Amino acid sequence: MDDTLDTRTGWPQDLKFLIARYPREAWPGHANLGQTARFWLARHDGFRELGRALAGATAEFRAGGVAPRAFQGWFAPRLQHFLSQLHEHHQVEDFHYFPVFRAAEQRLAAGFDVLERDHEAIHAAILATVQSANEFLQSLDDADARFAGDRYAEASEKLLRQLLRHLADEEDLIVPVILDRSEEALGIG
Ligand SMILES: [Fe+2]
Ligand SMILES: [Fe+2]
Repeated sequence: MDDTLDTRTGWPQDLKFLIARYPREAWPGHANLGQTARFWLARHDGFRELGRALAGATAEFRAGGVAPRAFQGWFAPRLQHFLSQLHEHHQVEDFHYFPVFRAAEQRLAAGFDVLERDHEAIHAAILATVQSANEFLQSLDDADARFAGDRYAEASEKLLRQLLRHLADEEDLIVPVILDRSEEALGIG
């Protein structure tokens, strides 16, 4: 099974038996999609949105469309917020939610192993992004700002790519469990 975040294209057949019964189209109108699941999905959408906004702002700055200080003022607090919230989100999943779902549906245990490894890979990508962002922000006025910008863009694009894959697969594994069992029965309502 190809479980690396950089190359996989979704879950293998043996982990798809629940998503086959609860396809994405059926989620929004399903009675078991409760408050917790809705909040969690909205949180994921927030990460997608902010991740794309940060990437868009970086591309615009690097194309010369924004002054360095204006860019830094917009960008630095949002990146910090994005990365710290993401880290916290993963902690809550690793220690609170994954154990609940793993116990409820042991046939999906291999999927939760993959998701936990994703969190480790994403954590490494966050650290690389922080380091390259600091170098980038410190060099905004320097002649070599472009190179620091290239390094940051590379690190943050990798992070965003990995994150988008992870969010989609995580939802495909977890939401069907919630719909199948209900939040009340799982004790997460
Ligand atoms: Fe996650
Ligand atoms: Fe998540």
